[in-house]
Amino acid sequence: MSRIAHVNGAYVPQSRASVSIDDRGYQFADGVYEVAPVQAGRIIDLKPHLDRLAQSLRGIQIDMPMPLSAITVICRETLARNRVLDGTVYMQISRGVAARDHGFPKTPIKPALVVTAKSMVWPTDAGADTGIAIITTPDTRWGRCDIKATGLLANVLAKQKARDAGAFEAWFVRPDGSISEGASTNAWIVDRDGRLITRPLGPEILPGITRATVLNLAGAAGLDVVERSFTVEELLDAREAFLTSTTAMVRAVIAVDGRPIANRYPGEITRQLRGLCIAHYGSAGEA
Ligand SMILES: Cc1ncc(COP(=O)(O)O)c(C=O)c1O
Repeated sequence: MSRIAHVNGAYVPQSRASVSIDDRGYQFADGVYEVAPVQAGRIIDLKPHLDRLAQSLRGIQIDMPMPLSAITVICRETLARNRVLDGTVYMQISRGVAARDHGFPKTPIKPALVVTAKSMVWPTDAGADTGIAIITTPDTRWGRCDIKATGLLANVLAKQKARDAGAFEAWFVRPDGSISEGASTNAWIVDRDGRLITRPLGPEILPGITRATVLNLAGAAGLDVVERSFTVEELLDAREAFLTSTTAMVRAVIAVDGRPIANRYPGEITRQLRGLCIAHYGSAGEA
C-alpha cells in the first residue's frame, strides 16, 4: 500500500507529494513541525502537541492556517488513509510560497501544511531496554530552541556525529559546561541521592511533551524531582541517566563519550519511568 500524504488540502501518494521550490520551508527552513505518537488508533497527548504547534507558530509569527480542530481532522484522516494504528503523525507548517527574499512577503501568503503518518511498533516491556550510548557535543544551535522549528542543521550534524561514534544520541553542552538537551531528546539524570534532575524550561531546550509526561508521572509516583541544569561532570557521576522523546519514550543512557554511567545497566528509576510511560501511551486519551 503506498503511503498517503496530506499536502495543502489534498491527499496524494507520498511518492508524488511535492511542494514548490519557492516554499519558504524549503528555502529558509521558515516553518515549524510536530510529531505525536499514535497507539491503538488514538493520538496520545494530542492537546499538548497541538498547543506546542500553536506556540511554535506564534514564536515565528506564522498565523495558524486553520483551527486546531481542523488540523486534528486532517491528522485522523491521514492516519486512516495510511491504516496507521500504531506509529506517529507528523505535521509541518511553513510560512508558504513566495519569491525568495529573507523578509516576510509584503502581501500575506497562505501557510503550507503537510501531514504524514508512519507505522511503528511501541515497546510493551520496560525491562527490554538494555540502554544506549551517547556522546556530548558543543551546543551550536540558535537561541530559540524552545520553538520546534524545521531548521535542524545543528541537530542533524550532532546526530550524525553520534552515529559515526556508534552512539544513539548526542547531548549538547553549553559554553557554561551544562547540558541543554539531546539532538532530538530531553536529558535527565538521577543523582547519588536518588533525585531526578532535568533542565528547566527556557530558550535552551524544547519543551518536550514526554518531558512533561515524565515530570507528571514521577511526581505522582512520589519521586523527588528537581528542575535545574546539570553538568557533564554530574552526568558522569550520576547513578542513572536517561533521555525522553515521543518515539524513544524513556531510554536508559549507559555510556557517555565511551565512559560508563553507573554499572552500564539501566537504573531502577529509569526502568520504573519507562514502564509508567509505556502504560501512559497505552491508556492516555486524546485530550
Ligand atoms: C531537540 C529536541 N528536544 C527534545 C525532544 C523531545 O520532545 P518530545 O518529547 O515532545 O518528543 C525533541 C523531539 O523531537 C527534540 O527534537
